[in-house]
Amino acid sequence: MEQTESLYPEDQKEMYALLKAQMKAVLDGERHIIPNLANASALLGGALRNINWVGFYLKHREELLLGPFQGKLACMHIGFGKGVCGAAYSRGETVLVKDVHRFPGHIACDCASNSEIVVPLFSHRQAVGVLDIDSPLLSRFNETDARELEGLARIIGNSCDWTELPGLQ
Ligand code: SME
Repeated sequence: MEQTESLYPEDQKEMYALLKAQMKAVLDGERHIIPNLANASALLGGALRNINWVGFYLKHREELLLGPFQGKLACMHIGFGKGVCGAAYSRGETVLVKDVHRFPGHIACDCASNSEIVVPLFSHRQAVGVLDIDSPLLSRFNETDARELEGLARIIGNSCDWTELPGLQ
């Protein structure tokens, strides 16, 4: 999914405003996590430029389990506190990595990835998983991406019933 073209506005704020409106519309009327996260990853994958992986890891028993995504094959299990995903989940905060090769414990899935952002997902203030986005560019993500993606993660978190899959909570 190494797309560099996008029909979305080039202006970052305008792009996120459109993406947020679309995310709300796409998730409206459905609360199951599988179709919602599948469509959320497709929407993000079509809108964000210069990314090579976007998807979800979900808390399942005592680890993070691979969820719906767009991109190359990815590792299926990540321990709490492990890699960028586990760090974001355990800290309960966004982790923005400008160069993944300098992040101790980074878990390499697609060797094209050079920068990464991971945003926790919450339901009723409990961390239920993470949104993970990788880019082949160094320093692809900035603080605006972090705040806007946190807004999108809130929409996604509030749009799903996190008890739908047995053992997910
Ligand atoms: N790089 C992540 C692993 C998941 S892949 O990027 C899809 C990490 O360090 O947690």
